[in-house]
Formats: sequence, structure tokens, C-alpha cells
Amino acid sequence: AALRRRTAPPSRLMSRSCYSSGSHPERKVVILGAAGGIGQPLSLLMKLNPLVSSLSLYDIANTPGVAADVSHINSRAQVAGYAGEEQLGQALEGSDIVIIPAGVPRKPGMTRDDLFNINAGIVKSLCIAIAKYCPNALVNMISNPVNSTVPIAAEVFKKAGTYDEKKLFGVTTLDVVRAKTFYAGKAKVPVAEVNVPVVGGHAGVTILPLFSQATPKSNSLGDEDIKALTKRTQDGGTEVVEAKAGKGSATLSMAYAGAVFADACLKGLNGVPDIVECSYVQSTVTEVPFFASKVRLGKNGVEEVLGLGPLSDYEKEGLESLKPELKSSIEKGVKFANQS
Ligand code: NAI
Repeated sequence: AALRRRTAPPSRLMSRSCYSSGSHPERKVVILGAAGGIGQPLSLLMKLNPLVSSLSLYDIANTPGVAADVSHINSRAQVAGYAGEEQLGQALEGSDIVIIPAGVPRKPGMTRDDLFNINAGIVKSLCIAIAKYCPNALVNMISNPVNSTVPIAAEVFKKAGTYDEKKLFGVTTLDVVRAKTFYAGKAKVPVAEVNVPVVGGHAGVTILPLFSQATPKSNSLGDEDIKALTKRTQDGGTEVVEAKAGKGSATLSMAYAGAVFADACLKGLNGVPDIVECSYVQSTVTEVPFFASKVRLGKNGVEEVLGLGPLSDYEKEGLESLKPELKSSIEKGVKFANQS
């Protein structure tokens, strides 16, 4: 095998080296809210990603420490920390991807919607800066309620004349991560092989895992199992909020999910074919204007929003019943963004 590798034609060698660490294009990733519960482990994971050449860490405070710490890791990305609004422009300039986990997390008894008033304002001001300093970057929105913060971002960008629906993503990857883990446990299949699309939105019943399309297939799961798996996926965030008992919401699993999604975006930008992830994007898959479904990622962000595929009766019901809540969360975001 070694001999064959040495005598491989130059074109094959070139394409191989294209995908080895160090020869990827320059890519700048910025994390807004980098000193937070999600921000810190996400900064670590993005520092470990060989597709990142420049990692910019921004928060209103405490980023110099996080940046100094992460910067000592011997991986490709050059790290810079920025603290305070006067450094936001510098943090954003030249970014390919902006990841936003800025804001407050849930406490027990709160819904994601309860976060609206604080986080909507934070997201709005950050998006005004994105439109000014890196209007062409892909935006990965993590701040909740994602069902509303993504429409807020869209409205801010429309006002600034920079909106490109191919570049705005609500990060719903944690729902997919949970659906995969819970399904693998129940169906007793190897978790690393599991795929489950999760569609709709990112709060309670708007999260609709499509277990009828899960692979590897399992014949051992009955209707009640599917209902229980669906409910556990929808309430996964609350499970963590309650277990943390007042100390916040999912941070480590969210950082992992955010890193998986950003990696997919980077691969798409770099021209790697067939990169498909679920995400909450502007959509015509249903009559709801923003909707999570499988999305093919490419050099300009969204290359194609994929349809839902065949649904079970239970999923069809779930789809119909999520639409009113999702629509009203979108309207709430649009209304907020358009207030003076
Ligand atoms: P956290 O409170 O630990 O961290 C938030 C960080 O944002 C803090 O460091 C804070 O200083 C910073 N921040 C506040 N205002 C800012 C501004 N104007 N500019 C930049 N940074 C600012 O919260 P955590 O646990 O990291 O959660 C962050 C957000 O992510 C919350 O909205 C939470 O609901 C959301 N989340 C989303 C998930 C998803 O699946 N999309 C899952 C879990 C949480």
C-alpha cells in the first residue's frame, strides 16, 4: 500500500493534500458570547478544528482570559480576544462565520420564550454590527429563543440591505444530537451510525424528530416508544435545565452541537460536496417562513433546502400542531426587530 501511495498520479496526491491539515483555505470564525457557558467550550472545540485559521473571541467581558488560555493549544487557529463594544468591529472584520451564543440561559420553570426580552435586544445589536463589519459572513444563531432570534436577525439584515437568506442559520443541531443519542439507546443500535432528521423549530412541540426516517431501522420500537422518544427530544433542554437546578442550560452538549454545525458550514464553504445538516432557515418547505429541515451546505451557505420526505401519521399530526406556535414566534421576532 505504501508503494502504491508513493506512485499515485500527481492529481490524486494533490487532492489528498488539499484535505490535510494546514493546506485548507484561510477561514476566520468569530464567537460572540465566547466567555459564557457555551462560548468557552465552543471556543475550545473551534480551536481544535483544522479548518479554522483565525479564531476571534468576543464577549462584553472576560474574553482576554479565555483567549489567552485557548491560544496556548498547539493547533492551527490564531486566537484573538476582544472585550467590550468598542472592540466588536475589530472582532468581526473579515469573518467567514459568526457563531452567536450570547445571551442569558434558562432557569428552571422558564421557557425559551421567557428569554425573549433580554436576548432579542442582544441579538439585534450584534446583528447590526455584523451587517456593518462582515455582511457576507454565515451567521450561526444559537441564542434562544432561536424560533424568534433568527427572524430578528433577518429583519435587521434586511434593513441594512445585507440580507442573504442563504447565510442565516438557526442552530438546531443539539436537537439532532439528542434524537440520535436517545434513539440509539432505545433501539439498541450503535450510536455512531444513527441518523435522525429533526424538523420544525427549536422549542418544545415545535421540535419534530422524524423517527420514521431514522437509520439504522429498528423493528423493536412501537408507537409508544416513538412517542416517548419524541417527547424526550422535545424536552431535552428542560431535562438539563432541571438537572442543573438554577445553574443554566445545556452548555457542553450545545458547544459540541455548535462545533459540529460550524464544521459543516466550513466544509460547505471550502467546497466539500454533500454536506447536509438540519438547520432552521428561511424556507418554503411549508407555509411557515422559517423552518428547520435538512439543508445542503455549499460555497455560499445554503445550497438547497431539502424537503421533509415521507412522514408517519404521528409526524403529520405533529407537523400541523407545531405550525401555529412557530408562526407566532416568528411574528414576535419580526415585530420586535421593527420597533424603533
Ligand atoms: P451564559 O450566560 O453562560 O453565557 C452567555 C454569554 O453571553 C456571557 O458570557 C455574556 O457575557 C455574553 N453576553 C451577554 N450580552 C452580550 C453581548 N451584548 N455581546 C456579547 N456577549 C454577550 O449562557 P449560555 O449557557 O452560554 O447560553 C447562551 C445562549 O445560548 C442562551 O440564550 C441559551 O438559551 C442559548 N442556548 C441555545 C441552545 C440551542 O440549542 N440553540 C442550547 C442551549 C442554550
